[in-house]
Formats: sequence, C-alpha cells, structure tokens
Amino acid sequence: MKNINKYSFAAVLAGALLLGLPALSQNDDIPGVGEPGGPGRVLNPAEMEQWLRGRALFDRPMHRTRGLGFPEMNADSCRACHQDPAVGGAGGLELNVSRFAFDNNGAGPFIDLPGGQGLSKLYPPWVLDPTVTPPNDPATNETGREEYDPEVADVFEQRQTPSILGGGLIDGIPDLEILQNEDPFDSNFDGIFGVARMVSVGLGPDEVGRFGWKAQVPHLEDFTRDAMGGELGMTTPADGRGFAFTTDSDSVADPELTLQEVADVTFFMAELGPPLRTFSADPDVAAGEGLFNTIGCAICHIPELQGASGPVPLYSDLLLHNVMPAGFRGMVEPGAGAGFFKTPPLWGIKDTAPYMHDGRGETLHGVILRHDGEAAAVRAAYQALPSADQARLIAFLNDL
Ligand code: HEC
Ligand code: HEC
Repeated sequence: MKNINKYSFAAVLAGALLLGLPALSQNDDIPGVGEPGGPGRVLNPAEMEQWLRGRALFDRPMHRTRGLGFPEMNADSCRACHQDPAVGGAGGLELNVSRFAFDNNGAGPFIDLPGGQGLSKLYPPWVLDPTVTPPNDPATNETGREEYDPEVADVFEQRQTPSILGGGLIDGIPDLEILQNEDPFDSNFDGIFGVARMVSVGLGPDEVGRFGWKAQVPHLEDFTRDAMGGELGMTTPADGRGFAFTTDSDSVADPELTLQEVADVTFFMAELGPPLRTFSADPDVAAGEGLFNTIGCAICHIPELQGASGPVPLYSDLLLHNVMPAGFRGMVEPGAGAGFFKTPPLWGIKDTAPYMHDGRGETLHGVILRHDGEAAAVRAAYQALPSADQARLIAFLNDL
C-alpha cells in the first residue's frame, strides 16, 4: 500500500467513475463514409449494425458492474484516449500510458519488475485507503498491488495514444509483404537496417507484429483483448493467442465480455476508414513529396505496402528501427531492444500531434530533428535543405 499514495489524485477520478457521474464527453454524431472516424466503405445493414455495436462499446464508458477495472485501470472507455480527430483516433499527452522497469541506471541488465511493465493510472478508493469499504465482497477485491514497487524502478517510458483510423487495412498487410523490406545486416550500406517484430503467439509459429509502438501485437483482434484487459481491466474469452486477460480480481464473473463483443469492437476498428490524403494542388506539396523521397524519409516511411485488397498508402514499413540518440534508455521487450520502435504510419499525421512514442515531438519540424541513430544521415539531409524546401516537405506531410 505504501507505494501507491502518490497516485491518490487518481482515486478522486476513480471515485467519480464509481459514482456514475456523466462521462467527460460522448459524441453521438456518427461520421459518414469517408469522414474521419467513419467507415471506410458503405456497409450493408447487418454490417452497419455490428459496426455501431462495436463503436458503442468503444465509445461508452464501462461501469464497475460490468467488470471495469482489475479493479485498477487506465480509463473507463477506449474513446477516453482514442479521440482525435474522431472516436478511434489519437490522444493527447495527458492520456499517455506509462511503463517502468529496472536497468541499473543504464548499466544493465534490464529487468522487468514483478507484475510487468504496465502501471495503471486509476485505483478505486479502497485500494488506496484501507478505511474505505469496498463494494461487494472484499475478499475478491484484493489487487495484489503489493507486488508492484514503482520505487524500485529506475527506467520509465511514456507511450502516446496512436490513431486506429485505417487499422483494418494495416491488419490485412501480409507478413511476407512486411518481411521483404527487412535489412538486418544493412546489405545496401545506407546505415538503415529494419527488422520485423516477431511475436510469439500461443503455440503457433511467431507472427509479424503490426500494432503498438514496438509492433508488439500482430492483429487488431489481439489488440482488442490486450487493451480491454490492460487499459480498462475488462476480461475477455481466451483464444489461445496469449493477448487476453482472462481473469481478474474484481467480483464480476469472468470473462466480462463475450466473444461477440470482442468481435464487434474489432469490426469497428477494422472498418474505420483510413485517413484520406488532401491531394492539394499546391506545387509546394508536390515538391515536398519529391524531397521526402530523395532525402531518404521514404526508406523507412515507405509510401505504400500491398494489403489484402490493394495498395495501402500508410507511409511505413512496419519494421523496427532505432532512431534514438546514443545512450537512450527505455523499455526492452522480446525481439525489440531499448530504442527500437516501429516506423509509425504518416497518413493522417496532421491530426495526431503530439508525435513520437512518448509524445515529445510537438511539431512536424521538431519531430524530424529528433530523428537520430539509423535516421541521423536522413535528418542531416533535411537540416541541409534551404528553409523553403523544409517548409515544402512539411507541407507534404500536412497533405497526408
Ligand atoms: C489510457 C489510454 C488508452 C485507452 C483507454 C485505450 N488505449 Fe489503445 N492505445 C493507447 C496507447 C498509449 C497505445 C500505444 C501502446 C503501446 O504501443 O505501448 C494504444 C494503442 C492501440 C492500438 C494500436 C494502434 C496502432 O496502430 O499501433 C489499438 C488497436 C488500440 N490501442 C485499441 C484500443 C482499444 C480497443 C481500447 C479499448 C478497449 C483502447 N485502445 C483503449 C492508449 C489507450
Ligand atoms: C531509419 C528509419 C526512419 C527514417 C529514415 C525516417 N524516419 Fe520518421 N520515424 C521513424 C521511427 C522509428 C519513428 C518513431 C520514433 C518514436 O516513436 O520515438 C519515426 C517518427 C516519425 C514521425 C512521427 C510520427 C508519429 O505518429 O508520431 C514523423 C512525422 C516522421 N517520422 C517523419 C519523418 C520524415 C519527414 C523523415 C525524413 C526527413 C523521416 N521521418 C525519416 C523512422 C524513420
């Protein structure tokens, strides 16, 4: 208990959630096909019904009586974080999720603390204050929080909320399409490597990760289970792939969501239309696109990959690269060392500031200057451009 006092501000918010106060915002205007946050295609009536069911689950606050929380959690709905420019989009800095571990002041070895890297933001009052009586059966409301000891941690990493718009198109990009761009030994001597994140999945062969800043999750349905558990504290039915949180310590019977509900949320995300390019007639945009390609941005931010049904203009290779400065300390995951992050897609980038895994890039110009490591030479090429050309490149990014 002693370690979590500093999070007591969270208890106030959690308390508000428990009292069932109105949610901060709830947007019930459903965007149309082609609008941000709308479906990417015309859905038939049955599909539309499922999409709206999934959207409602994603958008509406969950409640303790449905199993919200472990009982701790990060938020009460998916939309609480994924909201810019529409439900399903990105989130601001204040919504960042924290990870922590121990790396002996950078000297190593990197060690995951008991309970894992995730650190919940919100705790119900009875977890923080022993004088508060938990609802229901106190015996089932133990959290096991004692196993965490944030005081021991000496390395932290913030993760910013990425947009899910176009997620279904990314989900459909075959493993082989991603693997063919790997360059683990830099065989073309451009200083840029690129490795796929291979994720162990149940008993089957490893699969290529596509989602999350470290490409730690292969498919959208896996992320539905992972986020329902990790962010909301909602348990889901096991599917043998290892991403579901199947039991928790609140008093609601597990699994708290049905297979149909998991399918509905996944369908909502899969059918969220991709961000649509403006295709401005401004000649600066075309010039900026040329510069993006010639100075080397496109080596990692590949303009398009082939998806399940045609090209996907995402501006990413979905591979891991280390573009952090030397000496960077951060989370280590199996198959993704400290500093290795997935090239983030750039479609819709104008709407998703702040940028980078921790949200430390405020402007597009600033983000480019923060590229280091494998991208140091490309960044230098950008810095060497006359400022008018830099502005053209930014104009192109704002067109995506
Ligand atoms: C507290 C804020 C928060 C909440 C609540 C939240 N997310 Fe996220 N989401 C994030 C962050 C942060 C990431 C990046 C995580 C990482 O890579 O470490 C993310 C990543 C994702 C991704 C991967 C996107 C990509 O392209 O890489 C999906 C899909 C996703 N979330 C779905 C959901 C669903 C479904 C819910 C509700 C069950 C949810 N999220 C709730 C913050 C949140
Ligand atoms: C070696 C591969 C590589 C090259 C070359 C590269 N990038 Fe990146 N880029 C990345 C990675 C990896 C990240 C994520 C870093 C992080 O999250 O901390 C990133 C992040 C970004 C982001 C932020 C995206 C977001 O959603 O937060 C933008 C914008 C961007 N790059 C644009 C560019 C431009 C423009 C160029 C050329 C000047 C460029 N990049 C060159 C790999 C690369």
